[in-house]
Amino acid sequence: MLAKEKMKLEVRPTGAALGADIVGVDLASFGDDEFALIRQALLDHLVLRIRGCNALDDVAFTRFAARFGEIKPSPDFTRSRPVYLTDAPLVTVISNVTENGKPIGEHGDGELNWHTDLGFTDYPSALTMLLAREVPPRGGNTSFANMYRALETLPEATRTRIARLKLKHQASHNAQGGKRPGYRDIETDDVREMPGPVHPIVRVHPDTRRAALYLGRRFGAYIPGLPLARSEALVDELWTHAALPENTWTQEWQVGDLIVWDNRCTMHRRDAFTGQGRRRMHRLTTKGERPMGAVADPVEYG
Ligand code: SIN
Repeated sequence: MLAKEKMKLEVRPTGAALGADIVGVDLASFGDDEFALIRQALLDHLVLRIRGCNALDDVAFTRFAARFGEIKPSPDFTRSRPVYLTDAPLVTVISNVTENGKPIGEHGDGELNWHTDLGFTDYPSALTMLLAREVPPRGGNTSFANMYRALETLPEATRTRIARLKLKHQASHNAQGGKRPGYRDIETDDVREMPGPVHPIVRVHPDTRRAALYLGRRFGAYIPGLPLARSEALVDELWTHAALPENTWTQEWQVGDLIVWDNRCTMHRRDAFTGQGRRRMHRLTTKGERPMGAVADPVEYG
């Protein structure tokens, strides 16, 4: 009997500002050489899509994700509904589906505004992976922004202005403005007083060493040291620029699509799909590092 010919792995860029399809790989069994190509494609294209992963079970999905680094789900204080799978306990569920009167996952069916995962913690997620188990017939698309490109195409005066600035990524509210479970007691609506870590606005990617614009969530974002009105005007300028269509690419989901994205150089958002049917995504995230700035912090004397 003839041995089945092995398909060759190919990287096919979307042609937009970011994203590429990986074809010709079986994620349940692939070698180190193929993984090296996938990892390099992620560094080059920032978001990868692997279609047809319907038969990949959650244990094999976890094994694939762990090739990239230590898997670390979001801490429970940040999560509206921590749901873990019993057979693959690091996988969490994003879904609008309710079973026996209980939601089976997080985030419902509404729009999710532009954000990057766990930017509001000291160690934001490095990578996020979603495996589509059920998708609605319409809506629920996920868009991504290339934050290297967003930085490179800013007016030079803005780039100079933000080179040493930092952004407070407030932790108490989610991207839609609702309070996070761990911060129900927070009363303030003054962004200068909301708790959260301060990260450089221009972040250097630890592997590519390229500089990217690093924005978390627009709601509650504040540039420490600036008067509120100037901070608001500058963060508005940065968000509007990053989300320009020429910086983005949109994923239209099919069942079995596996998407991997790098939070250190992308942002993402999701369209609402209210009343459009069931959507169920299985999600894994890898541990990240403290964001590093492009220029050294000024030395403080005395
Ligand atoms: C997310 O923002 O983590 C979820 C994106 C999605 O549901 O497509």
